[in-house]
Amino acid sequence: MSATTSSVAANAGDVHVDLRGKTAIVTGAATGIGKAIALRLGASGANVVVDYRDQTDAANEIVAEIERSGGHGIAISADVSDEAAVDGMVASAVEHFGGLDILVNNAGIEQSHALVDIPLDVWKRIIDVNLTGPFLCARAAARAMIARGRGGRIINISSVHEDLAFPNNAAYAASKGGVRMFMRTAALELAPHAITMNNIAPGAIATPINQDVRENPQQRKELLEEIPLGRVGQPEEIAALCTYLASDAAGYVTGATFVIDGGLMRYTKGL
Ligand code: BGC
Repeated sequence: MSATTSSVAANAGDVHVDLRGKTAIVTGAATGIGKAIALRLGASGANVVVDYRDQTDAANEIVAEIERSGGHGIAISADVSDEAAVDGMVASAVEHFGGLDILVNNAGIEQSHALVDIPLDVWKRIIDVNLTGPFLCARAAARAMIARGRGGRIINISSVHEDLAFPNNAAYAASKGGVRMFMRTAALELAPHAITMNNIAPGAIATPINQDVRENPQQRKELLEEIPLGRVGQPEEIAALCTYLASDAAGYVTGATFVIDGGLMRYTKGL
């Protein structure tokens, strides 16, 4: 990490939001953007359910870090595409912390194939995790939030590819485009319950999902050339906005997508 990059990331963590008394579930929180969000919500005072699939040690370490920063956390293993596991996780969060205020749908997978080569099981798995997962989690969370009657916040970590074509990633782009319209529609249905739903659409952020691209000199060069700010983003820069959207201060924000991409979507160098 360069000095500039690390100071940007550290500053992004400084946004002050008070989430004491709130309970949040963050899916896919063992690594990457989900990890940064879980830590940031915890440091802001929220009780955090750290959802993960199989990285138990990493999830437990995040819970320990949340506890060290004065917050409370529990790690729960639940595959977001598994209806019973998701319903069980939400029930556990409510039982453990007394209610659910915030859901962050972050878990996601990516696997590149040319369209003509995508195996059906890969297509289905990507749609299951990236689109059905947010639906199942949002449905369970909304049921709990409506029953309690105190409103809530649902934030989906989508991608610039909810709007931007992504050659060799048709399943991923389709899943993220689905999350775009799922969010817009669900936001309207949930508004009467004071539950907001928004998307954060990250561009290239330094996480395991794109490690191969970032570590390949040629691919890294091509990626950076498409980013007006000339660098990849840091997970903390996504966590800062997510923490705001999770707060009481964001009560009038719903049905919107917030792009954080260093200007990637405005790229016009070829013109
Ligand atoms: C993908 C990354 C990609 C970025 C910009 C993200 O949604 O997960 O692999 O670098 O979009 O294209």
